[in-house]
Amino acid sequence: MPVPHPFPYQGSKRAIASDILRYLPRDTDRLIEPFCGSAAVSIAASAQGLAREFWLNDLNEPLMRLWSSILDTPEEIAGSYMALWVAQRPDRKAFFDKVRRQFNRSPRPDLLLYLLARIVKGSVRYSATGEFNQSADNRRSGMRPPKMRQQILGVSLLLAGKTKLTSVDFREVVRQATERDTIYLDPPYQGTSYTRDHRYSQGMPFDELVEELSEMNGRDLSYILSYDGRTGDKTYGKPLPTELGLFHMTISAGRSTQATLQGERLETVESLYLSPALVERLGVGSLHDKGETQWGQMELLPG
Ligand SMILES: C[S@@+](CC[C@H](N)C(=O)[O-])C[C@H]1O[C@@H](n2cnc3c(N)ncnc32)[C@H](O)[C@@H]1O
Repeated sequence: MPVPHPFPYQGSKRAIASDILRYLPRDTDRLIEPFCGSAAVSIAASAQGLAREFWLNDLNEPLMRLWSSILDTPEEIAGSYMALWVAQRPDRKAFFDKVRRQFNRSPRPDLLLYLLARIVKGSVRYSATGEFNQSADNRRSGMRPPKMRQQILGVSLLLAGKTKLTSVDFREVVRQATERDTIYLDPPYQGTSYTRDHRYSQGMPFDELVEELSEMNGRDLSYILSYDGRTGDKTYGKPLPTELGLFHMTISAGRSTQATLQGERLETVESLYLSPALVERLGVGSLHDKGETQWGQMELLPG
C-alpha cells in the first residue's frame, strides 16, 4: 500500500523516509519530529509499525492546526477541501489569490490545505511582514478531492490517537524528550522562509543549532539529523563541527528535479547524522572501527 501524503512540502523527506528509518532503534517508544513539516518520517514510521507514539511539532502554527484537523476531523477537512477545489472553477488563478488573502486575514486549516495543494512544489513562503506570499502553479488544479480524502483518512488512521501536536520552538520540544525517545531533526536551511515567525524567517542559525545539538549530546538523547547535502558539485549547508561526535552518512536521494528541468542529470546526496547515544543504542559502534574516527562515512543507496 502506498504511504498516504495529503500535501507536497518543500524539503519533504518522503522519498528517503525508509532510508532514514533504518536508524530508528527497535525499542523506540516515541518518535519526535520537532521540525515536522509534512511529517513524512512519522507517517512512514507508523505505516511500518516502528513506533507506538509520535510527537509532531512545527513553528508554523497554521500548519499544526491543519495537522490537528487531518488527524481528528478528517472527514470535515476533506469536505472543506472539496468545496474549495470545486469553487475554484472557472478562474482558478483569481480564486487562489482570493483564498490567499483570506488565509492572511484568518489562517484556517482548510485554506492552508488548498494553498499547499496549489503552490509550486509545496514551497511555503512568507513575506517580511508575515504574509503567505507564494503564488499558484496555474497549470495544475491541485490534488483531486477523492484522492485528497483518501490521503487524509489514511494519515488519520496512521497517527490519530497516538500523536501529540504542538507549535513551539524546537528547543522546547527537545527539552521534554527522554533517552527512550528517538528524535528526527530536519531544520530549515539558512535562507528558507518557511515560517511567519520573524526570528526564523531566514532559517535556523547555524550556531544555535550546534549549541542545541551539544546540549542534546550531554543528555544522551538519540537523534537523527538531516542537515547538509549536495547536488552535483554544489554543496548546501555548512559541515557540522567534528567535536559533536556525530556519525555522518550520505543517502543518495536520486536525480534532482530542478537540475532535470534545466536539462542536467545531477544526483542529489543528502547527509544524515546520528547522535553518539543513538549509535550506542543501535549497537553499530563497530562501524567506528572500520573508519579512523567517529567521523565515519557510508554511501547508502535508496531501497
Ligand atoms: C525542512 S522542513 C521539514 C520537512 C519535513 N521533514 C518533511 O518531511 O516535510 C523544516 C520545518 O521546520 C520548521 N521550523 C523552522 N524553524 C523552526 C523552529 N525554530 N522550531 C520548530 N520548527 C521550525 C519550518 O516551518 C519547516 O516546516
